[in-house]
Amino acid sequence: MTTHDAPIGVFDSGLGGLSVLDAMRSRLPNESMVYIADSGYAPYGEKTDAFIRQRSKAIADWLVARGAKVLVVACNTATTHAIRHLRDTLSIPIVGVEPGIKPAALATVSGVVGVLATAATLRSERLKTLIAEHETQCRFVCQAGHGLVEQIEQGNLAGAVIDDLLTRYLAPMAQAEADTVILGSTHYALLAPSIRRLFGERFRLIETGPAIARRVETLLAEHGLAARADVTATGEIEYFSTAQSAHQREALVAVVSGLRASDMRPSVSYVEIAHAVTEPQH
Ligand code: DGL
Repeated sequence: MTTHDAPIGVFDSGLGGLSVLDAMRSRLPNESMVYIADSGYAPYGEKTDAFIRQRSKAIADWLVARGAKVLVVACNTATTHAIRHLRDTLSIPIVGVEPGIKPAALATVSGVVGVLATAATLRSERLKTLIAEHETQCRFVCQAGHGLVEQIEQGNLAGAVIDDLLTRYLAPMAQAEADTVILGSTHYALLAPSIRRLFGERFRLIETGPAIARRVETLLAEHGLAARADVTATGEIEYFSTAQSAHQREALVAVVSGLRASDMRPSVSYVEIAHAVTEPQH
């Protein structure tokens, strides 16, 4: 396999990155990709900074060992806590995902923006810096989405529990006059239909999947790594999960099938990936 034909490695703490993968697949149909959901260790958003870095490094190393030519960290939580460490230790190009603070600041008319992100992303220095850079333009109402990822990992993208949590988190944003809500976890992008059902067009929803797909396309061109459609590119996507539970792996299949609206059911392989404990767990 030449470098051109090597896959793009994509990872998330679980199913959320599938929203990014879907955007990449639409934009880059010739590229082969390997997706790994670290569902056995989700949610990252409720873990320590050190744990998030160690898991991210272990998963990234696994993707590099499988020959990934580019790494996409399709997880805001892993990006805000681990991307610097990954860039320092890996030699392939890396693209991360951050909450769309700037596009939201540009889009809001009311001057109030809701930020729904994981607890770990909200406490990260990176997010604080991004918010500080735009705070003169608008006010940000931040809310941690406790409990949402656990539901999504079980395949629940709609239903009473999700509706209750979304109402609890987003109704105060509406009351604060937010007209724009940042879906600051790739998992939450999968909840856009439920948010629309509950709140109609009350909010402009900001998610970054399409922007990441464009960034990956540019990066591939810059590094001369794009797949050559006319030669051997297959556009194949392989799915892996660290979830021991068959039910959880089945949830991945259901989300992929739902996003593609196709009858093609992907197969998901279980993989065990240990992480090195290199720093204290606090
Ligand atoms: N999908 C991840 C993100 O974008 C977070 C989910 C989790 O808490 O594991 O932030």
